[in-house]
Amino acid sequence: MIVAREEIDETLVKITLSDGEGAEYQKIVIRPVQGKTLFYQAEGYRNNQVFHTNLSLEELFCYLEEKAKKYRQILVTKAGKTISYARNASGSYRRRESENDVSPSKKTHNREKKYLLPEGEKIPALVDLGVFTKDYRIVKAKYDKFKQINRFVELVDDAFRDTQKTSLTILDFGCGKSYLTFILYYYFTVKRGIAVKVIGYDLKADVVKHCNEVAKRYGYQNLQFVVADVTKDVLFDEPIDMVVTLHACDTATDYAFAYAVRHGAKDIFSVPCCQHEVNLSIHGGGELDSLLKYGIVKERVCALLTDTVCALLLEDEGYAVDLVEFVDFEHSPKNVMIRAGRGKVPSTRNRKIVEELMKKCGFEQTLYRLLTE
Ligand SMILES: C[S@@+](CC[C@H](N)C(=O)[O-])C[C@H]1O[C@@H](n2cnc3c(N)ncnc32)[C@H](O)[C@@H]1O
Repeated sequence: MIVAREEIDETLVKITLSDGEGAEYQKIVIRPVQGKTLFYQAEGYRNNQVFHTNLSLEELFCYLEEKAKKYRQILVTKAGKTISYARNASGSYRRRESENDVSPSKKTHNREKKYLLPEGEKIPALVDLGVFTKDYRIVKAKYDKFKQINRFVELVDDAFRDTQKTSLTILDFGCGKSYLTFILYYYFTVKRGIAVKVIGYDLKADVVKHCNEVAKRYGYQNLQFVVADVTKDVLFDEPIDMVVTLHACDTATDYAFAYAVRHGAKDIFSVPCCQHEVNLSIHGGGELDSLLKYGIVKERVCALLTDTVCALLLEDEGYAVDLVEFVDFEHSPKNVMIRAGRGKVPSTRNRKIVEELMKKCGFEQTLYRLLTE
């Protein structure tokens, strides 16, 4: 390992990997974060976007082992000391140590503090939607939803904080009561000054009607809601920038992914929901047999399998994909977000893996079908 294990101790402030060669990110900055337990947050920078990965200490060692060799410069900043590693022509790293006057810092992972849209912020549409009371306090029964939409926007913000874009088109599949759709509109237009066109799709005509009334009431001209079945209706048929889904039912998420791929969406943020399809069609006969024995385990395995298959297929379509924890399990058991940003060279590398898995375990998967038909 280039960075010795002993160098990662309580005085660590950050590790910076830069000057990459064939690396996934232009630069990676890793910092210790004190949450309920200590973990390490790696920020990968690519094309003005930032991708976060949270790591335990052991995972950090593996992460460094895998990534560090792709960077020519590694800087380990500790309180009082900086250690630099520079790769030389022979491929080995020269280690240098120097003193610094950096004081110890352990970033506190305080999600309350990080809320982009804190309780009390005057967002009248959220009052109409029943998330805020009239004095902009969170309605108790909507606390989990409030947490979810805030976290969603935080993750979007990670990717768009430094964007140079001045306009964006965003589609929300299965928008339901549209808390997220409104919040995204608010975030981009009010907080970031970016002109967005946002369209939310849902099956429920009464909910769509109400959302359109609220959007009109607050002059949100470029926010519209449309009654549509996303699995079969014709949707906005022009190039789009972003597709979002938050707990869209069953295969609606797959249709959102396929739509994003076909319409050149650069960014996808999706938190899938009840992924019944794999659960219903999977059978024994493969390596997964023992994981299919108990209902609750089977359900979770099938959900993770669905997420993994989707991630693999999106990678083949030229997206850099990562799966992140969305909110704590207590706020929603459907808590994996699939984040995907277009920019890689498409390939067919993962398709074989998916096909073998499907064949062995006998399950069907809508995104696979949509992308291959
Ligand atoms: C669990 S709700 C989530 C709503 C919203 N995204 C949220 O997080 O509050 C799922 C929504 O997806 C919608 N939905 C399910 N299948 C759909 C389809 N095929 N086309 C459009 N909407 C669909 C449902 O009507 C429902 O409102």
